Amino acid sequence: MKLGIIFSSVVYFVAILMQNQGCKGCLEKERIGLLEIKDYILSQKGDPYNELDSWVDDRASNCCTWNKIKCSNISSGHITDLSLKMLLDFWSSNTMLNVSLFHPFEELRLLDLSYNLFRGWIGNEGFPGLNKLDTLDLSDNNLNSSILRSLNELTSLTTLKLGYNFMHNFSAQGFLRSKELEVLELPGNMLNGSIIPSLHEFTSLKNLRLGDNNFNCSLSSLDFTKFSRLELLDLSSNQLTGSLHLEDVQNLRNLKVLSLSNNYMNGSIEGLCKLKDLEDLNIGNNMFSAQLPECLSNLTNLQVLELSNNLFTGNFPSFTSNLTSLTYLSFCENYMQGTFSLSTLANHSKLQVLYISSKSIAANIENENTKWFPKFQLKSLILRNCNINMDKGSVIPNFLSYQYNLILIDLSSNVTPRFSKRGYTFFFFKVIKLKQRNR
Ligand SMILES: *[C@@H]1O[C@H](CO)[C@@H](O)[C@H](O)[C@H]1NC(C)=O
Ligand SMILES: *[C@@H]1O[C@H](CO)[C@@H](O)[C@H](O)[C@H]1NC(C)=O
Ligand SMILES: *[C@@H]1O[C@H](CO)[C@@H](O)[C@H](O)[C@H]1NC(C)=O
Ligand SMILES: *[C@@H]1O[C@H](CO)[C@@H](O)[C@H](O)[C@H]1NC(C)=O
Ligand SMILES: *[C@@H]1O[C@H](CO)[C@@H](O)[C@H](O)[C@H]1NC(C)=O
Ligand SMILES: *[C@@H]1O[C@H](CO)[C@@H](O)[C@H](O)[C@H]1NC(C)=O
Ligand SMILES: *[C@@H]1O[C@H](CO)[C@@H](O)[C@H](O)[C@H]1NC(C)=O
Ligand SMILES: *[C@@H]1O[C@H](CO)[C@@H](O)[C@H](O)[C@H]1NC(C)=O
Ligand SMILES: *[C@@H]1O[C@H](CO)[C@@H](O)[C@H](O)[C@H]1NC(C)=O
Ligand SMILES: *[C@@H]1O[C@H](CO)[C@@H](O)[C@H](O)[C@H]1NC(C)=O
Repeated sequence: MKLGIIFSSVVYFVAILMQNQGCKGCLEKERIGLLEIKDYILSQKGDPYNELDSWVDDRASNCCTWNKIKCSNISSGHITDLSLKMLLDFWSSNTMLNVSLFHPFEELRLLDLSYNLFRGWIGNEGFPGLNKLDTLDLSDNNLNSSILRSLNELTSLTTLKLGYNFMHNFSAQGFLRSKELEVLELPGNMLNGSIIPSLHEFTSLKNLRLGDNNFNCSLSSLDFTKFSRLELLDLSSNQLTGSLHLEDVQNLRNLKVLSLSNNYMNGSIEGLCKLKDLEDLNIGNNMFSAQLPECLSNLTNLQVLELSNNLFTGNFPSFTSNLTSLTYLSFCENYMQGTFSLSTLANHSKLQVLYISSKSIAANIENENTKWFPKFQLKSLILRNCNINMDKGSVIPNFLSYQYNLILIDLSSNVTPRFSKRGYTFFFFKVIKLKQRNR
């Protein structure tokens, strides 16, 4: 017994020793390169949170273990990931980045320079030949379109993030060598519909984020025919107009995620029924109107459905009962009326967020007509201004006594007798209290 313990301890120590020897640490050239980057950042009064404290000039220190670094897993000692996010920010604004500092890192795959308020590169020589680099994150800096030209040495780029900069144009010219771009994030710039033709080179695009820009056209005026692989399209918070008829969306049939929230779109959304792969649909805060089309029941992969703050009228939809994959369902602040029975969602076992309210006085959320038990555990529930259980004396919904995970519940503007006349909004509601009030 004792021998066994001693023996296994010896094996353990030998194993640790071997591990230490097997790990060569990072290459000397790259170690020195990192220390130069640190000198540069400190010279700019950066690193406010002392995140580079582990970067010490000591040969015994293995730089693969340093903060913000990842080395290759095949023990070559090459650094593959370098995250220099938020090291310069407002303590040292508007810096020109010396990109020569990245020359030593031949095997770099990911470089994150986001949130640094960089204005551009020194010398405009372009990025060094980091021809393994697949992900470059330059979001939240002060860069304009002129930097694009300098990225043409990055021949393996598949992900480029340039959100929240000052891009007024996006041209593929000078940048053609990485046509394999799959993820392009350009939210929070000054771009409009005229950039879409410049993106036609990138036929491998899967994710395209263009939210928070100046698109003031209709979706149908944007030519998406070249993007047959597009799975995610985000055009939220622009000034888009027009509707979502079939002809408006026919080139977007492979979409899994579509966000058009915070625009000025109106009319029908019938075309969405053809986007059968949709998993996440957000058209909140627009001016879509008419009755919600029942054919939305064909979108059986939907997990997130956000329809709030539009002008939808007519009866509450019944298609939601078929969408059993839903985790998030919101149709707040529309003008729908009639009766919506929560028991139709009883088997939606994944549902976590449910928001219903109506600006029509003829809306009625009904819970008690049938005996039912929810298979879901909600985290967040809004049943506001919708005449809860009007036919049953406006009692508090009984299903709430089976909800154990709620952190937000808003039943305001209902005529529930045990609450005040105005209704009541509870935040961080405790289920125990809920049960007491329910009796
Ligand atoms: C190293 O990591 C990459 C990506 O994480 C992986 O594809 C590869 O199989 C790994 N190689 C080894 C030898 O573990
Ligand atoms: C940029 O960095 C390189 C490599 O560290 C250095 O040799 C060069 O002097 C730097 N240039 C400027 C303008 O700081
Ligand atoms: C773009 O940024 C570069 C570098 O800061 C600057 O020289 C140039 O004037 C800017 N161009 C525009 C149109 O703002
Ligand atoms: C779109 O942006 C480009 C580049 O900034 C500009 O020249 C053009 O006038 C804009 N078009 C519209 C319709 O706003
Ligand atoms: C935007 O880029 C395209 C393609 O290079 C070019 O034709 C157009 O003139 C540019 N527009 C502006 C306003 O720079
Ligand atoms: C879009 O904005 C541009 C520039 O502000 C303007 O000239 C153009 O008429 C607008 N287009 C639409 C469809 O509103
Ligand atoms: C949508 O908005 C446009 C422009 O304001 C208007 O001409 C059109 O009648 C609207 N369509 C619907 C169905 O409301
Ligand atoms: C939706 O599905 C039904 C039956 O599954 C089918 O008859 C109908 O044409 C579909 N609607 C659309 C818009 O694809
Ligand atoms: C929706 O569910 C109802 C009831 O289960 C069923 O009759 C109907 O065919 C379903 N619709 C679609 C489009 O699957
Ligand atoms: C939920 O599932 C049960 C058992 O499979 C079934 O009896 C019931 O009708 C279903 N309810 C709804 C609303 O689909």
